[in-house]
Amino acid sequence: MTILTILHYPDSTLRKTSLLVDPKDATIPGLIADMFETLAIDGIGLAAPQVDVLKRVVVIDLGSDQDIPPFALINPEICWCSERTVPYSNGCLSLPGVYADVVRPEEIEVKYLDENFNQHHLKANDLLAVCIQHEIDHLDGKLFIDHLSKLKREVLIRKFVKKTQRSTELP
Ligand code: NI
Repeated sequence: MTILTILHYPDSTLRKTSLLVDPKDATIPGLIADMFETLAIDGIGLAAPQVDVLKRVVVIDLGSDQDIPPFALINPEICWCSERTVPYSNGCLSLPGVYADVVRPEEIEVKYLDENFNQHHLKANDLLAVCIQHEIDHLDGKLFIDHLSKLKREVLIRKFVKKTQRSTELP
């Protein structure tokens, strides 16, 4: 297994739409294993375009205190979402160090294929619903900052750029 390099904002790949995965695609098991290994270092969710692969694959690992074992979603599709929305703090491995509340549907139902290409239908709320929606956004070239007002987004981007400059200036 390999730890993959995570693309950071403003890499243009993060803005592209990922393609549906073909069940005959033999690279998927290896990709999922590498994505889990990469996610183990930090974070609770990772989407393939963040590691420069434009395929509709997501891995989620909410950690041991959440009671939900790590799982992969291939070609995930939200088929229902609640009208009720809630704000929830979002962070992103492609924008390390910045966080903001994003308002999204509180509850969702998602269809996806697991790593063996078996179909699943899952109802999710709370952190899991936030994470799935955040990761599916990545498959459509969308980042959590896109949900914010222009002003809030610009403040966050400035903060991120400053942090990045500071860390590259260190000896
Ligand atoms: Ni993200």
